[in-house]
Amino acid sequence: MNTKNEELSAFEKAGLEGTDPRCVPVTLTEPAPIGRDIKYPDYTDEEQENWQIMYARQLKLLEGRAAAEYMDGLHKMEFSPDRIPYLGDICAVLEKATNWRAARIPGLLAEEQFFGYLADRVFPSTDYMRPRHELDYTPAPDLFHDIFGHTPLITNPTFANFYQKIGQAALKAQGRQRRQLERIYWFTVEFGLIDDKNGLQIYGNGILSSFEEVQHSLTDKVEKKPFEAAVVAEQEYDVWHMQPLLFVIDSFEQLENDFYKWAQGQGLLEEN
Ligand SMILES: [Fe+2]
Repeated sequence: MNTKNEELSAFEKAGLEGTDPRCVPVTLTEPAPIGRDIKYPDYTDEEQENWQIMYARQLKLLEGRAAAEYMDGLHKMEFSPDRIPYLGDICAVLEKATNWRAARIPGLLAEEQFFGYLADRVFPSTDYMRPRHELDYTPAPDLFHDIFGHTPLITNPTFANFYQKIGQAALKAQGRQRRQLERIYWFTVEFGLIDDKNGLQIYGNGILSSFEEVQHSLTDKVEKKPFEAAVVAEQEYDVWHMQPLLFVIDSFEQLENDFYKWAQGQGLLEEN
């Protein structure tokens, strides 16, 4: 791992600054279980209740605000409002929809391993639930962020291809390019907006799975700029506050094509 501070990711810096130990990335020493090899955790009643509360509340908030592609994926997932979903089932839905799979990981993953999974069309997901006092906000990934937030959109073929390309490009990235890719990831996968025939809507999971960001992101308090990979690659961000600036794509095809062109120009992706 590179230890020069300016080359560390925002999460790596936060870890060094001692912000929250859950934000310090872990490195796996053996491959994570995938699909039916994943065991359904022994959740407590309170954890199941946390899911029920968050699922009902977020679903209501997403109406008219979430991108159609995400809502289609959510429909395909058939999550129960009463019971925390099983990653093995999610893996089966992804496999059928886009030939992606899901692996169970214990926490925030070290970058190289994380992007390695994406490059192999595997979504590394946590399966633990945040505690009751963190329902509105938790600094680290948990199953609500990963499962409710991330997995539905991976059923969309164009987004799924883009997501794999991010992983492939990241594995080749050096120095400054690593930070550029991380910014692109942040402003798309986590905080992306789309403006298509349905109007301005959310597809980024950092927004979709957050109680406050969903209500904040589409308002005038947030500056919106058209998505351009080369511009986004230079845009700094802060993981600890509500986002003051977001980037808007026209379509997932635009996102995939523009990213592909940029990454090719950087020597990070081969020709199709
Ligand atoms: Fe995420």
